[in-house]
Amino acid sequence: MRRILLGVGGGIAAYKACELTRLLVKAGDAVQVVMTEAATRFVAPLTFQALSGREVALDLWRPQATGGMDHIDLARAADAFVVAPATADLLARAAQGRGDDLLANLLLARGALPTLLAPAMNRAMWANAAVQRNVALLRGDGVRIAGPGSGEQACGEVGDGRLLEPEQLLAELDALLAPQVLRGRRVLLTAGPTWEPWDEVRYLGNRSSGKMGWALARAAWERGAEVVMVAGPSALEPPHGARVVAVQTARQMRDAVLAELQRAAVDLFVAAAAVADWRPAQVVAGKLKKRAGEAAPALALELNPDILAEVAARADAPYCVGFAAEADDLHAQAQAKRLRKGVPLLVGNIGAQAFGSDDNVCVLVDADGVRALPRAPKLQLARQIIDEAATRLPERRP
Ligand code: CTP
Repeated sequence: MRRILLGVGGGIAAYKACELTRLLVKAGDAVQVVMTEAATRFVAPLTFQALSGREVALDLWRPQATGGMDHIDLARAADAFVVAPATADLLARAAQGRGDDLLANLLLARGALPTLLAPAMNRAMWANAAVQRNVALLRGDGVRIAGPGSGEQACGEVGDGRLLEPEQLLAELDALLAPQVLRGRRVLLTAGPTWEPWDEVRYLGNRSSGKMGWALARAAWERGAEVVMVAGPSALEPPHGARVVAVQTARQMRDAVLAELQRAAVDLFVAAAAVADWRPAQVVAGKLKKRAGEAAPALALELNPDILAEVAARADAPYCVGFAAEADDLHAQAQAKRLRKGVPLLVGNIGAQAFGSDDNVCVLVDADGVRALPRAPKLQLARQIIDEAATRLPERRP
């Protein structure tokens, strides 16, 4: 259980901090909310109290917790400090080390507590030189700045300054607390299914949801990597922090992967996509029509390129991690596939158990043998896989 100190500033986006509280509590975290006086004008403390199950800390002069020392004790009793939304005024006070209310005092007293500030304000305010100066100062002080996002603002303008979404703030918090074992590294992934067109409306696909690849992208980003994910069609929201290159077919996926390898050196390549092995040999223009009395059309197939094997065989190959979706005899099949594809590490699973599900059970296969990873949510498995790969990366190329 993580103990999260959640500071809420006085901005319209304070309502998103309610949802963040709910997500944190759902994830098993203990949340202590601290609000500025201005924040209570936007959301009633009772809302946070109900969501967190704890009394909200509000006042420097009426401390609730212990012996009149809330401004120190609340910071000592936490594993991480998140301020969302962080208004321009809060950023200024934090940058200057002022102590004019409880939240500012806690920021002063935070010591080595990992701290994340999520700015939210009008785009002109965000662009203001004073705000940017304060953000630079805070970064220099070791504070993580999350966002802001871009888009429509409450004032009707469009631009930078939106508070990140609650799910994104949760990802930022996970990153704040994750070991930064991939800082300075570049990670390239394939994810999701591929769709191989037969005619204008039909395609050959598979049941991959993309969840495992998405989880791997998030795990690598949390660990400090620059992440590029070449992804087939999926209903999932793009993972926060990763750059997504959207493709449909195996050949488009291969071309996008090669282009990324060309663009800059990649340290780790993870092939999590369920690439279609075959594609219709001929793509029919328009829509194939059925006519009474005619036999069903024959569908001739052609082999697709094997992206993982091709990347692993390159002279400048990054460290490669493959996946194996098998129907049975997992250990032997996965080990044989690892050797066939020429990759040092392969993650094996039973395809029917993995596709679409939120959790999975898999094995790590390398030259030394097979190690089981017990059933767990895909994000947790992804973190274990990425941590394992990170320990195996060769020293960074000059
Ligand atoms: N893979 C790939 N390109 C392909 C096929 C597979 O990059 N054309 C990658 C997958 O992303 C995965 C690994 O190779 O990391 C194994 O995929 P899998 O579908 O299990 O194996 P196949 O090579 O397709 O072999 P088979 O279907 O015969 O088991």
